[in-house]
Amino acid sequence: MSVKFCSEKNIFHLKTKTSSYIFRVMPNKVLNHLYWGKAVREYVNFEEVDYNPDSILAEYPEYGRGDFRDPAYQIEFENGRRLSELKYVNHNIYYGKKSLVALPSTYAEKDTEVESLEIILKDDFSSLEVILTYSVYEEYDAITRNVKFVNKGNESVQLNRALSLCVDFETSDFELLHLSGAWCREKHIFKRELQMGSQAIESKRGISSHQHNPFVALLSKGATETIGDVYGFSLVYSGNFLANVEVDGFKRTRVVMGINPFDFAWEIREGESFQTPEGVLVYSDKGLGKMSRIYHKLYRERLSRGKYRDKTRPILINNWEATYFNFNADKIVEIAKAGKELGIELFVLDDGWFGKRDSDNSSLGDWFEDRRKLPKGLKDLAENVNKEGLSFGLWFEPEMLSPDSDLYKEHPDWCLHVEGIKPMSGRFQRNQLVLDLTRKEVREEIIKRVSDILREVPISYVKWDMNRALTDVGSIGLSAKNQKETFHRYVLGLYEMLERITGEFPEVLFENCSSGGARFDPGMSYYMPQTWASDDTDAVERLKIQYGTSIVYPVSSIGSHASTIPNHQVSRMEKMETRGLTAMMGIFGYELDLTKLPEEDRIVAKEHVALFKEIRETVQFGEFYRLLSPFEGNETAWMFVNEKTKEVLVFYFKVLAEPYVNGRKLKLQGLNPEQKYLINDKEELYGDQLMNIGLDIKNEFGDFRATFWRIKMI
Ligand code: DGJ
Repeated sequence: MSVKFCSEKNIFHLKTKTSSYIFRVMPNKVLNHLYWGKAVREYVNFEEVDYNPDSILAEYPEYGRGDFRDPAYQIEFENGRRLSELKYVNHNIYYGKKSLVALPSTYAEKDTEVESLEIILKDDFSSLEVILTYSVYEEYDAITRNVKFVNKGNESVQLNRALSLCVDFETSDFELLHLSGAWCREKHIFKRELQMGSQAIESKRGISSHQHNPFVALLSKGATETIGDVYGFSLVYSGNFLANVEVDGFKRTRVVMGINPFDFAWEIREGESFQTPEGVLVYSDKGLGKMSRIYHKLYRERLSRGKYRDKTRPILINNWEATYFNFNADKIVEIAKAGKELGIELFVLDDGWFGKRDSDNSSLGDWFEDRRKLPKGLKDLAENVNKEGLSFGLWFEPEMLSPDSDLYKEHPDWCLHVEGIKPMSGRFQRNQLVLDLTRKEVREEIIKRVSDILREVPISYVKWDMNRALTDVGSIGLSAKNQKETFHRYVLGLYEMLERITGEFPEVLFENCSSGGARFDPGMSYYMPQTWASDDTDAVERLKIQYGTSIVYPVSSIGSHASTIPNHQVSRMEKMETRGLTAMMGIFGYELDLTKLPEEDRIVAKEHVALFKEIRETVQFGEFYRLLSPFEGNETAWMFVNEKTKEVLVFYFKVLAEPYVNGRKLKLQGLNPEQKYLINDKEELYGDQLMNIGLDIKNEFGDFRATFWRIKMI
């Protein structure tokens, strides 16, 4: 049993394989958080004292009744009253996990793998009910949380803040880790000591964003990849989010996380309810590496869905950096043919195949083939690519509308906008408008246009792109008083579209994209098993982006391609060897004009494609270990261990060459000390040597070096 209730002391103990999460109902019926950390047998010996609401460890704190830290929620009644006090009424414990209405969430395949606890709370001053749900994945070692507000009264209640979770800690001796950056620099790792006051990681852009990811971790001081306590907080949501970490005057820490209250309000009418997104809590007693592996397994196996969840993914060639908008059917077939010669399996036709799109300033919304570029149509092109022996994939940006499009002419009011104000669609909005997905008729038309193509053309892969943040946030489908629901309703509308389209086309592999990784979050990973990690394809930049992304997201979800030199984002010149080995951390592919590949690169690429086919099961479904961080020096190293394939893969990268230095040893992780390993078919070494002494690395000349070891368990 992973949820235990002690009725004598009113204590709830949620227990995973290595952690305990404990809270109780106090005599005044208020919930009191007690502990989250390394597993304990029980927690019973506390003394009943007169609790100060401002310092008590709270479980889901309200506003206005003596706790002056961040509240978990805020409500407002029609008469202006904003006070509430949640009191315990009862609880249910059951095996399994309910899915959330209209929102993505982790799931159970067998009821026995998860046990759930629902705590029913009621506001002392009104008929508002609040249900806190916890689901305990004992074996996966994770706990999920969500909250439902139910209006049982006979007047509307407005939610001004409705976060998914709050966790209080007794101390503030932590470092805060978050994944932040910008376009082409996504998910860089930032770490800082906690300070008095609030430190917020958030998005106000309507998407989870390049700038911040809906994830934070608290690390005990000195924690590393392999040692120390780490507490991870991840939110299954793709819109505006807030993760706020507050250190109070008692040097205690409060972490709250959920939909960003910024420009948010929600009216819960009589008899209706509001569901928050899911938060996923992971505790690790063995540093960041273990935390990441817990998230990887859970998200790979119990968040991601569909036919491709457990399948190795095809090696692809995408034409974006090869041609941008300038292509025709013959060019595409030539690239596909060159791909086939290398052993590539999937051709992806990127932006520019529809309407009259010769640049980024037209045609979004007109999802009809461009006969100027494809005289015999898309179907004919896809069939020709198929004839060359590759499957065919297609790019869409379904959420957008170009002012220069037929769809806009027909429906100029279908974009997010505020009446009387021209919505922004300039260069910084990539010359496009955002469709108002809060409106059913808009969603239906786009679903129809995308589905028609998926039905007609033999398409086995879709890249679902989204290239601008939300401005002019308002919907003519909502009343004046409900305008602050627009941001969240947009996300709900998007999720509905994704559920319908991915549900109707289960054979299609979907890849998520948002100008690279601007919406690489667990919400999108529920619908699409892989995400294009960044528009930056430079190998050196990718070391950081992919390393940072791996803090939460499984390697099986990270799209990475080798591209041309000079690189299009930074003009750097790395050898094909390095470009290929870097891109092998994830869903491997190419994004360059294969018809122009120099012969020596073609040879390397062919070897890489053949190699990746052999190792991809280990890469995509193995355990991932980070060995050297690109954020801490000139070297990066990572490795994969897969018990099923009996294989270990080690990748080492050195960015700048150094003169007059010795070689070094690279200590591996995650091996069996007693096991013998065969290195590159040559040397036999025991796991204890590889982990404690390490692999020998020669000092090589030349910048941007990559080395790879293939190791067999023997
Ligand atoms: C942004 C994506 O991240 C790119 O890979 C490419 O698909 C472009 N959009 C196309 O407009």
